[in-house]
Amino acid sequence: MSGYVLAIDQGTTSTRAIVFDDGFRIKGVAQQEFPQHFPRSGWVEHAPDDIWNSVVETVRGAIADASITAADIAAIGITNQRETVVVWDRETGKSIHNAIVWQDRRTAEFCRKLVSDGAEPMITEKTGLIVDPYFSGTKIAWLLDHVEGARAKAEAGTLAFGTVDSFLLFKLTGGKIHATDATNASRTMLFDISANDWDEELLRLLKVPRAIMPDVKDCDGDFGLTDAALFGAAIPLLGVAGDQHAATLGQACFEPGMLKSTYGTGCFAVLNTGQERVASRNRLLTTIAYRLAGQTSFALEGSIFIAGAAVQWLRDGLKIIDKAEVTGPMAAKADPEQDVYLVPAFTGLGAPWWDAEARGAIFGLTRKTGPEEFAKAALEAVCYQTADLLNAMKKDWPGAADTVLRVDGGMVASNYTMQCLADLLNAPVDRPVVLETTALGAAWLAGQKAGVWPDQAGFAARWRLERQFSPQMDAVTRGRKLTGWAEAVKRTLTQ
Ligand code: G3P
Repeated sequence: MSGYVLAIDQGTTSTRAIVFDDGFRIKGVAQQEFPQHFPRSGWVEHAPDDIWNSVVETVRGAIADASITAADIAAIGITNQRETVVVWDRETGKSIHNAIVWQDRRTAEFCRKLVSDGAEPMITEKTGLIVDPYFSGTKIAWLLDHVEGARAKAEAGTLAFGTVDSFLLFKLTGGKIHATDATNASRTMLFDISANDWDEELLRLLKVPRAIMPDVKDCDGDFGLTDAALFGAAIPLLGVAGDQHAATLGQACFEPGMLKSTYGTGCFAVLNTGQERVASRNRLLTTIAYRLAGQTSFALEGSIFIAGAAVQWLRDGLKIIDKAEVTGPMAAKADPEQDVYLVPAFTGLGAPWWDAEARGAIFGLTRKTGPEEFAKAALEAVCYQTADLLNAMKKDWPGAADTVLRVDGGMVASNYTMQCLADLLNAPVDRPVVLETTALGAAWLAGQKAGVWPDQAGFAARWRLERQFSPQMDAVTRGRKLTGWAEAVKRTLTQ
């Protein structure tokens, strides 16, 4: 059998499909952006049909780009933006509403009520999560309450809920499979990560009928076959993982103590804690890193909502740059005397602050502040936030003490940003040769399950370092900057 494996990486702003060969080389790729909808302040939606069409078109595009046919592909792995909610009709496959995206804050009030009713300790105990609109549960409840007739249909079992992976599996298999994997399930606030099952008490609390929930499988489970009419042959679907979990696999962070951080729209740092489920005392999430062949590995996760999106804001909002790549060189020219802090709480603040109501703020402006200082503040904000996460991880778990950070995602191409990260963390930062780690992780799941790619140890042995960034900043400067950042965050928080 051929060693070609196709990964579908369905992200927040674009969809990519990549064909890898058995040397993990990219043979074909296609990417498509799709529209973002902001119906109200703090609301973010996607049209499920846009997502679906982008997947079909990019898969076809990647196969064509690789100059192969669907029959040459041994397996498909899916990775996806997590927490985003789709509810659809099982008969027609049509969604009943736009997808409510992970960034959407419309259920902030509902979450506040859950906390004031005292439900948070029980929710955290079962799910490892903090009560926040970020997660799927309250978004599902919102849909069932706001779409006419939805609740009755959900109770009658004619509707299906899924995170994006689940919606895609349903569509790709021609409606035969309604399933998800343990990592995506662990982000819904309805899944008990120790019992490995949907939790009845949580389903009751959020009034979500069990009838709409998908089956939960291992990340390297058997998710069926694609409908042959779609791509010209039926392709086995043998891997699913939420994007941050797939990146953890793609970075070969298989050992407890290994840490990766992905810089996309947001930034997500995932620390493998192995079989040990570590409860955070510093407002991090406990989550399923991955579940392979029935064996769960846990992680501590720090989730930051705005990373690359701050650079997008410089480009599309402020219009002070015309493309993202110029941000680093511009920041390098900033006046070193000015300490300007951007707290990019555009959609609230995530870990370790969890303030859904906070909004972005900028501090330290003077008459001399210009685009260069804004560029520097935006890039530094990403690094400061990572430093906050790493500190929380170190306090939570001794295994994080001398970890090395493996980085990936669009922003890590910037040497300036990576040096700044090493400086502010006061720790080395490792950038791998393969930066497509999210897609690679999904491909690895499917490839090893199909028997055409190496097992865990073989895959880990092939991870390659491209460059290590070592800290160069002196302790006094670092201390001054971190204190300034902490002060800026304090002044931004609403609670
Ligand atoms: O939790 C949200 C995350 O999965 C989204 O990732 O890469 O689409 O910004 P990304």
